[in-house]
Amino acid sequence: MRPSILITRATFPDVTARLQAHFDVEDNPADTPWNRAELTRRLQGKQGVMSTGSERIDAPLLDACPSLKAVCNVGVGYNNIDIAACTARGVLVTNTPDVLTETTADFGFALMMATARRITESERFLRGGGWTRTGIYDMFIGGDVHGATLGILGMGRIGQAIARRGAAGFGMKVIYHNRSRLPEALESACGARYVDKQTLLRKADHLVLVLPYSPSAHHAIGAAELSLMKRSATLTNIARGGIVDDAALAEALRDQTIAAAGLDVFEGEPDIHPDLFTLPNVVLTPHIGSASVRTRLAMAALTAENLIAALGLGACAGQPPTPVNPEVLAS
Ligand code: DGY
Repeated sequence: MRPSILITRATFPDVTARLQAHFDVEDNPADTPWNRAELTRRLQGKQGVMSTGSERIDAPLLDACPSLKAVCNVGVGYNNIDIAACTARGVLVTNTPDVLTETTADFGFALMMATARRITESERFLRGGGWTRTGIYDMFIGGDVHGATLGILGMGRIGQAIARRGAAGFGMKVIYHNRSRLPEALESACGARYVDKQTLLRKADHLVLVLPYSPSAHHAIGAAELSLMKRSATLTNIARGGIVDDAALAEALRDQTIAAAGLDVFEGEPDIHPDLFTLPNVVLTPHIGSASVRTRLAMAALTAENLIAALGLGACAGQPPTPVNPEVLAS
């Protein structure tokens, strides 16, 4: 009998077709939102799931879906999944690292530049008919990016790719803070210098957050941290909602204790802290860091490969390319 899988959200038809070659597939091409009860019901009898950050996969769900053997998440982040609960039940988890690194770094850099140079704020002004006089010396003056100090919190693959862009392309002085310091050779390849978190906050002209979410990273940037930043500094978050205390950030932006922020991720997204909508000095985007055609296709294709291999099929049977809890494979 062919294994059965669930694809929770709409995906590329070619990827669905590839999965249909191996599995009985239930999918969601209309991208209809499923609540938890609906998800649990649809997972009955399924051996695998192609999931996204929108679904919480935790112990109660796993216990209610005992046939599940593989949870293959589309995305590098997997804070929606209780890894320990999966491992304890012999459920393999996979993610999609590497394929999105450069695209997400491009986006982080773009968001940081849009924030520093007030791109969306000035566009709104123009579209609203506000531009009636030329030559105004201080119209939408912002902070320079080239030559400035770029601070990176979280120096994994995406952080390193942002560092390389800043150092090599924009002559930026790059400082970073991370749980563990990078080997020296990697630091010099990125043109980045390790500093403690306080120094990072005090010195950065443009601070970019790229750390994974975990309970210990919750509100890593709150009122106390924001108060250490320069008044002229910008903050860009492409990591996860919850890493920044959005209420404290809104207050700092309103009081202009920092200059501006660029946010692609939010606490409780897609709901957004209402104060952020009232502020001109924040650029808001709907969690699209990895959203280029090629990368989204690569992420979906890698997830399919993981799912096929995790359920013991295809050329890499039993050896999914990017497992999160490989110890499950050994047991
Ligand atoms: C990721 O890959 O983690 C992106 O944020 C999409 O969820």
